[in-house]
Amino acid sequence: MPILPERIRLAALHGQSQLADETTPFVRNAWYVAALAHEVDRQPLARRLLDLPVVLFRQLDGRAVALEDRCAHRSFPLSRGTLDGDTLVCGYHGARYDGDGHCRHVPSQSQIPPGAMVRAFPLHEAGALVWIWMGDPAKADIAAVPHQPWMADAGWVSSTERLHLLASYVRLHENLLDLTHLSFLHANSFGTPDYASAPFDTRLDEDAGRFALLRTVSPTRLPPLWARPTGLDGVDAARVVESTFLSPALHVVAVKFYACALPEDAQPARAIRTAHIVTPESGQRTHYFIQHARNFALDDDDITAFMHAQLLKAFQEDVDGLEAIEALLGGYAEQQPEISFHADRASLAMRRWLKRQAHAELAG
Ligand code: FES
Ligand SMILES: [Fe+2]
Repeated sequence: MPILPERIRLAALHGQSQLADETTPFVRNAWYVAALAHEVDRQPLARRLLDLPVVLFRQLDGRAVALEDRCAHRSFPLSRGTLDGDTLVCGYHGARYDGDGHCRHVPSQSQIPPGAMVRAFPLHEAGALVWIWMGDPAKADIAAVPHQPWMADAGWVSSTERLHLLASYVRLHENLLDLTHLSFLHANSFGTPDYASAPFDTRLDEDAGRFALLRTVSPTRLPPLWARPTGLDGVDAARVVESTFLSPALHVVAVKFYACALPEDAQPARAIRTAHIVTPESGQRTHYFIQHARNFALDDDDITAFMHAQLLKAFQEDVDGLEAIEALLGGYAEQQPEISFHADRASLAMRRWLKRQAHAELAG
């Protein structure tokens, strides 16, 4: 016996049909991060991206290359082969591929069969990240890489990490546009009880596909993760947060902190920025890269290590929560209705946009 009246259940499901979820096709015409730059070297790296097997490696001149990880002959994973100079040699029958994906040599015959090639994907390396374009090659435009200037700016000291999330990338984006969960899911890390009820504003730009949530929590007491590095321990402080969906691959959370007792501009800079870099592996698995930066105490390695460890603990709470949702819903035979809150305004707009983009791509 369903608990919801049929009228409400059907209305909820109808609303959800406009929203992206784990069943929505990927937006392919976008730059995604394939790997952290240090992960790509002379050992072929296998990584599933947007539900396609990809192999990444570096050529002798240091240039990163990405090929479809499936030999054109009998589909042996090329990542299980070896590099000979700039050539990737298949580990099954020895076909040799250049970085452009063309087979240049077949050991058992002198001719290269027509069509002996694999797909090569455009890459763009910037700072700590290797971006990949897996959509229509004619639309790959480096100017559209959503890399942010601060991500490679000496005025911001950064650390990076890669997490693996057994849940949809849509759920991760939604989590990042919903900061009310900090008071609960992150009650033991960087959440505070006053966070969920603090006033917020949204900025929704449907044309540009940018969705932002702004929240000021003031006066508040900062959790140790922020209080210790900023020196704002035990004082009334303001925590001003802007969380922005910039592309299907990138969400940036920018936070500044200042003591309430002084005008903001009379205090030292104390800001952090976190790039939540989101690459679908499949419909229900996500590569979750992080680049976290601050603009103060730039030379203090202890603070870098402290913040990195504390943040990772908090982000693991997101991973655990989203995986619990994905696993729970996977146990139902049918789609379950969702009831939304006012605070979901930005995430609902983002999910509608993602679904529209995905279907517009499919329609050509
Ligand atoms: S499968 Fe690669 S050469 Fe045969
Ligand atoms: Fe979170």
